[in-house]
Amino acid sequence: MKKYKIAVIPGDGTGPEVINEGLKVIKAVSSKFGFEYEAKTFDFGGERYLKTGKTLDKQEIEGLKKYSAIYLGAIGHPDVKPGILETGILLNLRFSLDQYINLRPIKLYNADFCPLKNKKPEDIDFVVVRENSEGLYKSMGEFKNKGTKDEIATQISYNTRKGVERCIRYAFEYTKKRNKTKKLTLCGKTNVLTFAWDLWQRTFNEVAKEYPDIKTDYAHVDATTMWFVKNPEWFDVIVTDNMFGDIITDLGAMIQGGMGIAAGGNINPQGVSMFEPIGGSAPKYTGKNVINPLAAICAGAMMLENIGEIKAGKAIEEAVITIVRTKMKSLAAGKMGYTTSEVGDLVVKQILNPV
Ligand code: IPM
Ligand code: MN
Repeated sequence: MKKYKIAVIPGDGTGPEVINEGLKVIKAVSSKFGFEYEAKTFDFGGERYLKTGKTLDKQEIEGLKKYSAIYLGAIGHPDVKPGILETGILLNLRFSLDQYINLRPIKLYNADFCPLKNKKPEDIDFVVVRENSEGLYKSMGEFKNKGTKDEIATQISYNTRKGVERCIRYAFEYTKKRNKTKKLTLCGKTNVLTFAWDLWQRTFNEVAKEYPDIKTDYAHVDATTMWFVKNPEWFDVIVTDNMFGDIITDLGAMIQGGMGIAAGGNINPQGVSMFEPIGGSAPKYTGKNVINPLAAICAGAMMLENIGEIKAGKAIEEAVITIVRTKMKSLAAGKMGYTTSEVGDLVVKQILNPV
């Protein structure tokens, strides 16, 4: 029997509540699909930082490298200045483990939960491949004359040929494997950001020659947000840089039904990947048993597919689809018609006795 080691980082706010439900569901599929796993919990997050001043050290990161995958709840604490935990923990993990892809499936499960008029599940079903290790996230820049009237702050978008190419290659391979309409759209800003996007466009065009079966397209990022609302059915796979990917995937989450259902993977195809609901720590809902755990459950499904338990991952997704179509009153916290743990139970029940 296959055995995996899962590093669990419940983190802050509602993270622990949603991860609990995710683990409940993973336990259910493990018995059904015959695999074993050991889940080890780590206390990285805001609480530990407030007590010890520690975000994450090198040794802890090294330790994570022996796991099959990392399952993350949320990072962000209302009593900690914005930026400390995000860079010290979340981005530190992404960068140190070289998780250079941020994979964000945008899929509408129930038209009733879509804020767009007349869009059906078949209209909203695409994937964003976001570069996850470079760009504006590289923290390059400086202040000049800080605190004076002549202050200048620069923030550099750092793009390497290697970094761009590996992301674009991943996107082409992913489009091929996904095998839907076999269309890959580059989302950029070639009309203004003429250094970075020249490199992206050239690399995209070169790699495209190796994939004659894949249709390629280009959209500026501003237009992309427009198409997400107007014609989301145009998209199959989108590849973009770190900052644009961050922005368009929040919009993507909204059109698929909100943060309650949006999951993402931070992927290192050769190393340890990390899966998370993208909604954040939601401090105002913490401890109330009202947050929607489906995003975390879907992140768990992505994790299982990534480590090779494809059937188990698919079974979770199927169960989530059924629950979203037949049970949930809303996907928003406090309005679901069920508590957090009841939603987890519904998914488990649906997996064990599909109806
Ligand atoms: C995301 C988040 C993070 C990001 C934050 C929390 C640093 O918004 O995963 O999209 O900007 O990448
Ligand atoms: Mn974001």
